[in-house]
Amino acid sequence: MKRIAILVSGRGSNFEAIARNIREGRLEAEIAAVVANNPEAKALDTARALGLRAILLPSKGVDSDTYAAQVVAALAPLSIDLLCLAGFMRRVGQPLLDAYAHRILNIHPSLLPSFPGLHVQQQALDYGVKFSGCTVHFVDSGLDTGPIVAQAAVPILDDDTADTLAARILVEEHRIFSEAIALVLSGRYRIDGRRVIRLDV
Ligand code: GAR
Repeated sequence: MKRIAILVSGRGSNFEAIARNIREGRLEAEIAAVVANNPEAKALDTARALGLRAILLPSKGVDSDTYAAQVVAALAPLSIDLLCLAGFMRRVGQPLLDAYAHRILNIHPSLLPSFPGLHVQQQALDYGVKFSGCTVHFVDSGLDTGPIVAQAAVPILDDDTADTLAARILVEEHRIFSEAIALVLSGRYRIDGRRVIRLDV
């Protein structure tokens, strides 16, 4: 069974969706650890309630590379196949990128390359786009720049607020993140430049 670690900063609904998809047989994987950088993260309580290994590594005041080295050290004994950033709000430092090259996925609530960074649902509304959505991508050293594994589009309605749009995007996040994890864990893809190509096997 492939082993994943999930990095979180807050609510953890994407983590919960992954856990539910595993429990209900839609995703074959084992959650070996949930790592939070924020002591207030609700996801930590959820992980404990589900009987999962919950690791709190506070990142406040710690630079990205030092923090990444701490995460690498914490995960080293756990034989992790894939790292999943599920609402993890820190940049990923080089030691993690080196230790898990092409083995880190992030979920982002916009159709990249539009609207990287933070407060992206508001950015989409302010820009006036008619569709937004979500993206699962490999993590590289840029800000939300790695090769794209999966996307889903969500129409923007005239009466949307950042919150109503975020809620509709979240439904799609919960679906495509597990689909992308399944694809990457299966190894049935190749990366050609920026393109992640699914292999029929
Ligand atoms: C999700 O919408 C996720 O896409 C976003 O934070 C939210 C976390 O929700 N991530 C980013 O913006 C990463 N830059 P969750 O904690 O309920 O999964």
